[in-house]
Amino acid sequence: METRVDEIAERIYRLSTFLPSVGPRGLTFNQFLVDAGEPLLFHCGQRALFPAVSRAAARIIDLRRLRWIAFSHIEADECGALAEWLEVAPDATVTHGRIGCAIWLNDQAPRPPRALADGEVIDLGDRRVRRLDTPHVPHCWDAGLLYEEATATLFTSDLFTHAGDPPALTDGDLVGPATAAEQQFHFTAVTPATGATIRQLAALQPRTLAVMHGSSFAGDAPAVLGSLADFYDDLLRQGAGPGRA
Ligand SMILES: [Fe+2]
Ligand SMILES: [Fe+2]
Repeated sequence: METRVDEIAERIYRLSTFLPSVGPRGLTFNQFLVDAGEPLLFHCGQRALFPAVSRAAARIIDLRRLRWIAFSHIEADECGALAEWLEVAPDATVTHGRIGCAIWLNDQAPRPPRALADGEVIDLGDRRVRRLDTPHVPHCWDAGLLYEEATATLFTSDLFTHAGDPPALTDGDLVGPATAAEQQFHFTAVTPATGATIRQLAALQPRTLAVMHGSSFAGDAPAVLGSLADFYDDLLRQGAGPGRA
């Protein structure tokens, strides 16, 4: 198993591991490292991926410098290896939204988490990341995303998930592959709030989308987010919610 490293925005690194056995075409599992005065990791990966992912991260920074560990929601690919990361990074603090801390981390995390309010900023020294509560988008009550202000990078978690092992960064079509994957996997909890939540993300005017499964995107990100919101609104209008055929 090999984890590739690509810089997708200034000092924002994508750590990508392709698992060919997931789904018919395989799937990438991507974590993101923000190399700042206080480095931040977004997503831990599954425990089985930890040796490869941590080796890749150690090519960018001394892991003992890692100061923050964050993730979108409680699932194995988002936070399975949390304990392993905290072990190799003794000064790191796990941070999550208030709901996620209340329903999981306050009880399960090896060290006390820092709970963030919606819109709260973590100051990384020379960079700032903002927590955005997005309950049930893409899925899970505790779901939230991060936005890095200097590079206008939105960490989208499972939004825009697409299959295969595409390039680290694209300016091409993201919505087509993402809607195909949604219709195959049905991973998004589609509610009346889904489209509106995604449009709020577009209003941030991001320039880069850091996608957890598939290519990241650089280009007209607000337009791409708008198209994804339209797709989910259409799904809802069709009455095709969770469990849809
Ligand atoms: Fe997920
Ligand atoms: Fe995921």
